[in-house]
Amino acid sequence: MSKHICTRWAFDLGSWRPTLPQLTQAVASVQPEERVRLMKFHFIDDFLSSLIGRLLMRKYVSTCSGLPAHQVKFARDVRGKPYWMREDYEGPPLSFNVSHQGSLVLLAGITGEESDPDFGIGTDVMKIEYSGGKSLSEFFRLMKGKFSAQEWSYIGRPQQDEREQIKAFMRHWCLKEAYVKELGVGITVDLEKISFSVDTTSCLDSKVSPLIGTSLRCHGEAMENWHFEEHLLQEEDYCAAIAFRNCLPMVHGRFQFLRVEDILLPSPESQLEEVISYCEKALLKPYKRS
Ligand code: COA
Ligand code: MG
Repeated sequence: MSKHICTRWAFDLGSWRPTLPQLTQAVASVQPEERVRLMKFHFIDDFLSSLIGRLLMRKYVSTCSGLPAHQVKFARDVRGKPYWMREDYEGPPLSFNVSHQGSLVLLAGITGEESDPDFGIGTDVMKIEYSGGKSLSEFFRLMKGKFSAQEWSYIGRPQQDEREQIKAFMRHWCLKEAYVKELGVGITVDLEKISFSVDTTSCLDSKVSPLIGTSLRCHGEAMENWHFEEHLLQEEDYCAAIAFRNCLPMVHGRFQFLRVEDILLPSPESQLEEVISYCEKALLKPYKRS
């Protein structure tokens, strides 16, 4: 399997309250149909998470392709997965995927060779917390069908405390979602038949992140062409996974945290009256966190 250049970017929304000029610049590089979608969010937190995801995608494709950011066009497939409309661009193929949860937004991207374009990447991030009203065992019971018996035997290890069980649950959730998101199939797959074996020889803590010893079986069959990275982020508040299909990253690196200045891209539309009034309206949306 050939080795590929992998990009892992993260953005922390936790301490960012955008000013009108910042938001205008950000929104200016988002396509009209995505602006309409964003405006439907009730909370500005959700609006910003999704918006940052769009900016990361644009920065990634622009950086890899050398095209000016405002010339990069995206579309979504029938299941909503965003892709780059390459049109007549001749450079190397690439794959990327975005995930956002809590205050984090992640992008994982990978580039390949023109001779071997059948590869892809998926990613997912989850905060390691359980805040549902029910007891953890009741919650696990409801989620039974989403994981295999072997996965449950690891997640529900009785000798572990609740925090460890929640962490194990979230790790498996991220792995499964990253896999499903590479495929782009949403929740149409039988999740119980997709079984992950995490690396039990090392404990996932921030020192070993990312862990790479994960393997996958689908309907009992070993999936040799898939590789996984498991990450811990923000000390140990979040876990994330990257799924690699038919590709392997040259280096198993960590996510790089970007600043606002790194992701606000120049756009000819940032002075448009229409964009400014859109942003004024967005800034009236409430924050979840006070
Ligand atoms: N495939 C891959 N990526 C997709 C996608 C698809 N079908 N649809 C959207 N995306 C991308 C977009 O960039 C999207 O960002 P946006 O919402 O701002 O446009 C981003 O992935 C969303 O990913 P994430 O933040 O991780 O959201 P999610 O985990 O709530 O949803 C889905 C991921 C929608 C792709 C899908 O996997 C799903 O419906 N999951 C349901 C949850 C579930 O039951 N999971 C079982 C795991 S055990
Ligand atoms: Mg997710």
